[in-house]
Amino acid sequence: MSRAGRETLAWTRRHLLGLEDLSAEELTAVLDTARGFSEISTRSIRKVPTLRGRVVANLFYEDSTRTRLSFSLAAQRLSADVLSFTKSGSSTSKGETLIDTARNIEAMGVDVFVVRHKAPGAPHVLARHLEGSVVNAGDGAHEHPTQALLDCHTIREARGKIEGLHVAIVGDIGHSRVARSNLFALKTLGAKVTLVGPPTLVSGRFRELGAEVSHDLDEVLPEIDVINMLRIQRERQGHLNFPSLVEYSRRFALNEKRMKRAKKDVLVMHPGPLNRGVEITPEVADGPNSVILNQVASGLAVRMAVLFLVTAAKERAQKEQHSTEQAALPSGGAS
Ligand code: ASP
Ligand code: CP
Repeated sequence: MSRAGRETLAWTRRHLLGLEDLSAEELTAVLDTARGFSEISTRSIRKVPTLRGRVVANLFYEDSTRTRLSFSLAAQRLSADVLSFTKSGSSTSKGETLIDTARNIEAMGVDVFVVRHKAPGAPHVLARHLEGSVVNAGDGAHEHPTQALLDCHTIREARGKIEGLHVAIVGDIGHSRVARSNLFALKTLGAKVTLVGPPTLVSGRFRELGAEVSHDLDEVLPEIDVINMLRIQRERQGHLNFPSLVEYSRRFALNEKRMKRAKKDVLVMHPGPLNRGVEITPEVADGPNSVILNQVASGLAVRMAVLFLVTAAKERAQKEQHSTEQAALPSGGAS
C-alpha cells in the first residue's frame, strides 16, 4: 500500500473538532499528509484534482485573515469549489440562527464546513445537525485544531521531530484556543510544554492537562527549544487581567535583550495577528529565529491535508454503509 493510502486509513474521522482526543497516529497521519501536499506549492501549476466536484463552505462568525484565506486557498488547490460566508453582511442580522444558516447552505450541496465561532462547541453542534464534514477553525477559547497542527508541522519540518523538545507557550493562556490545542497535540507527540504568563492569565490548573506552569519567562527561557508567543485576547476579557500593558511587556514580551538568554537556535513562533511591541518586538518577530511566516505557509499544506482526510473518511463511511444496506436487501443487492 502507498504511504498516502496508509495515512488515509489511519484517519477515520468525518469531522475535525479538536485535538484533545486525537492519538499520536492520527496527528502523524495529518502531518505526513501535509508534508506530501506541501510539494504542490512548489510546482508551476499549483493545483491537483483531489477534491474536484466537492464543495467547501467557510462559515466565519468571527474575524480572520490567515485561517479563512488559507482554507479557501487549500480547497482551491485541491480543485474544490469554495463558498465563503462571513457574519457581517449576512442574514444573521435578520435573526437567522447558526443551524438554520448552515442547513440552508448545505442545501446547496456542501461537503465540508469550516467553522469559526465565538461560542465554544459551535462546530460540535453543527456536526450533529449536518450531513457534511465539519472542521473547527476556532471556537471561542476552546480549540483551534488546524493552528496547532500547522504549528506542529512547522516545528517538525524545522527540527525533524517533536518528541523530546521543550516548547514554551507564552501569554494569555487562559483565553487562548491556540494554547489549548497546542498543548494537546504537543503532549501527545511527546514534547514537554511549559505555559508561561502572569498568574491571572495562566492558572495552575493547566498542570492537570499535563503542562508545566511558570510565571517567570526569564527563568525558563534558557531551556526552551521552541517559544510560541501569544496575543492578549482583549476580545475575550471584560477588563485587563494585569496592571498595564507596559508592565506586561516588561515581564513577558520577547525582545532582543531577552533573546540573549535563549538557546541560539530557539524557534520563535506566533500564530498571528501580532501586536508588535506588546508580546513581541519587531526585531524578534522579523529576526533570524522567527518562523512566523513558515507557520502561515505550513497552514496551507495542513489545511489541504485536513480537507482531504475528512472528505476521504466521510466518503469511505458512506460507501461502506451503502454496501451494508445493499447486502441486507433480500436479493443481496442485485437489482
Ligand atoms: N488567530 C488566532 C486565533 O484566532 C490567535 C489570535 O487571534 O490571537 O485564535
Ligand atoms: N492564526 C489565526 O487563526 O489567524 P486569523 O485569526 O487571522 O485567522
